Amino acid sequence: MCQTKELSLSRKEQKLVTSKKSTSGKKLKILFVSSEVEGLVKTGGLADVAKSLPSALKEMGHDVRIVMPFYQKVASQHQVPSLIETELFVESQPAPVRYSLKQLESDSVPVYAVDAPEYFDRPELYAENNQAYADNGERFAFFSAATLDLCEKVGFQPDIVHCNDWHTGLVPFLLRTRYAEKAFFANTKSVITIHNAVFKGVFNYDQYSLIPELIQRRYLNAEVDPSHISMLKAGVAYADKVSAVSPNYASELLTYLGSHGMDADFQNRASDLYGIVNGCDYNDWNPETDQFIKQNFKANKVSLVRGKKACKRDLQQQVDLPVEDVPLYGMVCRLTEQKGIHYLIPVLKDFLANEVQVVVVGTGDPKLAAALREISEAYPDKFAFVEAYSNPLAHCVEAGADFFMMPSEFEPCGLNQMYSLAYGTLPIVRGVGGLKDTVIDYDQTPQVATGFIFDAPTPEALLIKLQRSLLLYCQKPQEFKRLQQNAMACKFEWKESAELYVSMYLGQEQGLVVPATPSALSA
Ligand code: GLC
Repeated sequence: MCQTKELSLSRKEQKLVTSKKSTSGKKLKILFVSSEVEGLVKTGGLADVAKSLPSALKEMGHDVRIVMPFYQKVASQHQVPSLIETELFVESQPAPVRYSLKQLESDSVPVYAVDAPEYFDRPELYAENNQAYADNGERFAFFSAATLDLCEKVGFQPDIVHCNDWHTGLVPFLLRTRYAEKAFFANTKSVITIHNAVFKGVFNYDQYSLIPELIQRRYLNAEVDPSHISMLKAGVAYADKVSAVSPNYASELLTYLGSHGMDADFQNRASDLYGIVNGCDYNDWNPETDQFIKQNFKANKVSLVRGKKACKRDLQQQVDLPVEDVPLYGMVCRLTEQKGIHYLIPVLKDFLANEVQVVVVGTGDPKLAAALREISEAYPDKFAFVEAYSNPLAHCVEAGADFFMMPSEFEPCGLNQMYSLAYGTLPIVRGVGGLKDTVIDYDQTPQVATGFIFDAPTPEALLIKLQRSLLLYCQKPQEFKRLQQNAMACKFEWKESAELYVSMYLGQEQGLVVPATPSALSA
């Protein structure tokens, strides 16, 4: 629980609702469906949630199973015998699709991995050389159908099927159609969690031959145009509950900009829309125990100052910046517009006119990488660009930097700002999505502040906050340390988020944590 007032209040309010209502002690059977799971295979933050949330639900005593595809990347690490060999029979299809199930484990939660080589035995999950697999619609339509097909075959009768993002969007639809009359699923409810509504899973009807219920065109809620269906729209329309990975993102989904054009779909479900902030995995991200950083440290002043100093030196050495006592700004991200790197690039040289150092670590868009490379060549003593995806280096940036930049264009929840808070590295974020829910702005509420927030989606607005943070660092060092301690006192525990999910599963509160009025995007 965050010690600072604003955050602790909102989390406390959420908790009150939960503890008041969750006294029934009902233990649920939860099938958690995700296209990736950290520890088995990962491309983004969805995988982190798919590891941590099922594990937290299991800790609460619920019977949780995960379903995911058995990709080549998973198969190469896990040679296990099949639990069952079976086939998906679809009416009107000439031949059934054969598949088997492998049983794996994630943090002691059983995982059913759907092994269908024609769909998943490929080098990557979704795309090769930036080119999405042409049959992604068919692959994940199959995955969604297999998810429900396997339940009876393994004897797991879920109370809740918890879907995530577009890959699983047809599961709620199938529960309402193919399985609507099946006694086995009579008490099953579905939930879909939105991690990123920019990806809508839109495919031509041709790809949905395994879902003839869609092709009969009776269910227009999922249609984008007369020839295309969006799996995400299907999920949002047919799930019993819809959740976003932060309260503020839930309110943004009700707007045109924030939902990337799906506002009507979310507005139709407003009374079933929830916003629950993700937790942070403090086993991996804890400055007191982190194995990747030069010196572990705690929140007390002596330990913090010493630890951060050692970590800063180490980071400067690793990225070839002069070892100097200057404020250091870090950023670790995929080089995409979502992450707002295009707000930083135009003002970076101006900012480097100050006595500062900046480190950016990430891979992605070649044009953005080239722009960063050029600046690092022009300012070798002040700016380092490491074109890599490196978990150890990400830990060293979180520990060694004084500030962490996340000027995201949009950010459903975001994890790096939570890591930054834990390491006393003040986040400088744009006030969108989960960033707004998890960081408290120094200019608005200095007493309880944990970082800096700017609103306008412009390089200039970012630059103003960068300068502002620099002033604080240089002119008010005691105040800066106080903010670091505020930040380190913030905790986003998965246990608390899991309790909120259970309240949602049980339908105990309508739209539990969604603000009453959607806060429009500032763009
Ligand atoms: C997506 C979102 C990110 C969120 C993550 C986990 O990657 O872009 O903001 O933290 O999912 O929910």
